[in-house]
Amino acid sequence: MTVIRVGLRERSYPIYVADSYRHLPQILARQRLGPLLAVVSHRRLLDRFGGELLKTLRRGGLTVITMTVPESELSKSSRVAQRLLTQLARRATMRLPVLVAFGGGVVGDLTGFVAAVFRRGVPYVQLPTTLLAQVDSSIGGKVGIDLPEAKNAVGAFYQPRVVFDHVGVLRSLPLRQRRSGLAEILKYAVMADAWLFRFLERHVTACLHGNPQVDRVMVERCARIKARVVSRDERETRGVRTRLNLGHTLGHALEAATGYRRFTHGEAIAVGLAYASHLSVTQGLMATAARQRIIRLLRALGLPTAVTGVSLGAVKRALRYDKKFIRGKSRWVLPTQIGRAIVTEGVPMSEAMRLMREYVKP
Ligand SMILES: NC(=O)c1ccc[n+]([C@@H]2O[C@H](COP(=O)([O-])OP(=O)(O)OC[C@H]3O[C@@H](n4cnc5c(N)ncnc54)[C@H](O)[C@@H]3O)[C@@H](O)[C@H]2O)c1
Ligand SMILES: [Zn+2]
Repeated sequence: MTVIRVGLRERSYPIYVADSYRHLPQILARQRLGPLLAVVSHRRLLDRFGGELLKTLRRGGLTVITMTVPESELSKSSRVAQRLLTQLARRATMRLPVLVAFGGGVVGDLTGFVAAVFRRGVPYVQLPTTLLAQVDSSIGGKVGIDLPEAKNAVGAFYQPRVVFDHVGVLRSLPLRQRRSGLAEILKYAVMADAWLFRFLERHVTACLHGNPQVDRVMVERCARIKARVVSRDERETRGVRTRLNLGHTLGHALEAATGYRRFTHGEAIAVGLAYASHLSVTQGLMATAARQRIIRLLRALGLPTAVTGVSLGAVKRALRYDKKFIRGKSRWVLPTQIGRAIVTEGVPMSEAMRLMREYVKP
């Protein structure tokens, strides 16, 4: 079992990467988390892996209740959050529960949000079960729900007390969801880890079909990067955390322009990554050969590098909601080589928009 620390003074916490839930009860006991746990998850996930998890927790002397939500981005809503809060208020009258997010990023963001507001804050633990959630969304404390108007529109910075990754549960992840996580991993590689980039190039097949050793390498490497970045810039005020948004400016706009239904998060940021790489080359910030390597790897992983059937106007409208487009300025995270990215305001808006036409076609 590997332990990675997110260093945030009194809000510091460990990330464990393991191949079973065996040690989880001791870890929770050490952090004084218990004895009442409220596990938030999906019915199907509990049916598949809940047996192993709940048995282990109960054997460790913990009292566990479960609450399920539908498998959909629509679960990140005030309606579902309200339902969970009501259930908690009714069932946890005597003692404060510790919330446990057992699922992907949807369950993680929602559970963290409910934990942040129930009784002005109860502790919560992340047990991420998708590749994307293990490498990214479970770490860093960005929690929240969506409004019909915008994604992640209501939320908080509220750090978990423990993140525990059981890489074995990734074996049942559908290929499309695995690819979505791989796009995020490729993002980390391009922005901060040339070694990881080469690793992905060499192990494309294993990355796509799932292999516990390979998954472990990817999860550990990315968790370390995210932990380091969050430790230095918890609330994205120093520009350090902004770099994690490589590929996300166009990516988020594509998701919004298509109603969050057409693309997975990873598919959208794959296109954003291809675009950012090209934009960087046109600005003379990166060599063409590096861009070609990025495109080749995106394709090998079966990820899209451009989209058709999406309105460029809708994408531009969505871009205006991006925090990086404050007061009409275009601010981009651009790679400068494999393993390095910068935040720049030096790209003229007209050039950025002209290039976008090659990536977003009607
Ligand atoms: N908080 C952050 O910093 C942050 C970062 C990135 C993304 N996010 C959020 O994360 C969400 C996306 O998360 P996601 O990609 O994990 O999607 P998700 O949570 O919707 O999970 C995808 C699907 O996989 C299923 N699933 C989960 N684990 C499985 C397993 N082990 N085997 C089989 N199926 C499994 C889920 O039930 C679901 O149907 C978005 O809402 C996004 O905004 C948050
Ligand atoms: Zn992302």
